[in-house]
Amino acid sequence: MSNQIAEAPMTSKAEFYAQVGVQLRSLLEGERDFIANAANFSSLLFYSLTDLNWTGFYLCKDGELVLGPFQGRPACVRIAVGKGVCGTAAERRETVLVDNVHEFPGHIACDSASNSEIVVPLVKNGELIGVLDLDSPSFARFDDQDARGLNDLVAIFIAAAGA
Ligand code: SME
Repeated sequence: MSNQIAEAPMTSKAEFYAQVGVQLRSLLEGERDFIANAANFSSLLFYSLTDLNWTGFYLCKDGELVLGPFQGRPACVRIAVGKGVCGTAAERRETVLVDNVHEFPGHIACDSASNSEIVVPLVKNGELIGVLDLDSPSFARFDDQDARGLNDLVAIFIAAAGA
């Protein structure tokens, strides 16, 4: 007779992000205030995902990225488009996934605890309105499944955000 203990079923990352999506839709329902929705979205991410030290937004203002609602330690306020991980994602309008921020040219260190990072651009009606930034104290915390899941969540947010 096998003495192996059956493992509890694992929730896949896709399932996990789908569940967070349900919570996000519920949080945003009926509310069109962009700042309120962005604040709740960053908090939902911070408390739903494990192993993070910062989640939040940089928003496009007068041609640069300016700190928006976030969870975590105080962060640098202004980032030029093209600079750092956030500015690179904004310039390319592409998700940027960095396994080791110390090897990313021009990385802007807001919190010395950060070792990996993912930045998802927010594009509404063809216009860049900002970026969503997540930082982790672990190296290679984020993978392609996180990128897909976070892009799906950003799509829900953009559709409801009131921007
Ligand atoms: N590391 C980012 C700056 C923002 S903080 O991580 C909150 C960057 O290089 O753009």
